[in-house]
Amino acid sequence: MKAHVIEAVNGQIREEFESSYIYLAMSARFTTMNLPGAAAWMRQQAQEELLHAMKFFDFLVRRGAEPRLSAIAQPVVTFERPIEAFEKALAHERHITACIHALYDLAQKERDYALQTLLHWFIDEQVEEEETATGIIDSLRLAGETGQGLFMIDRELGQRQAAPAEGEAE
Ligand SMILES: [Fe+2]
Ligand SMILES: [Fe+2]
Repeated sequence: MKAHVIEAVNGQIREEFESSYIYLAMSARFTTMNLPGAAAWMRQQAQEELLHAMKFFDFLVRRGAEPRLSAIAQPVVTFERPIEAFEKALAHERHITACIHALYDLAQKERDYALQTLLHWFIDEQVEEEETATGIIDSLRLAGETGQGLFMIDRELGQRQAAPAEGEAE
């Protein structure tokens, strides 16, 4: 692999770990807010982001390149209303989508076909991530952000299933 392509993949590994960190911080905040369903949902999301990081990590290893881990920024999570968290999550996922697309542009430019194939999975995954966050924001707007509506949504968020095992996700 070309050195600057490896560097770009390493950058994406950091982005995915940073995503995990952000969602884990949101999970902690939701626990404090007595919203166990949203806390569980965010914890699950944090777990999925770790799998994303490891997909890129393993890809480099398999290509004979060494992953280089860099510092992860401290997550700034200071929301007061649940909807703010999901709005931030959506904005963050849009940022990640842009990163994935930029990486894909680079893979095409450098004719790294294996990286392009790996990125097809991530391109689809980002459509899902944005769709999911948008859906939760819509539910919160519709069903109300307090009282019974919020109670129902929190219960629903708590029913989120674990991410499929590594083999199934590919
Ligand atoms: Fe991700
Ligand atoms: Fe994500």
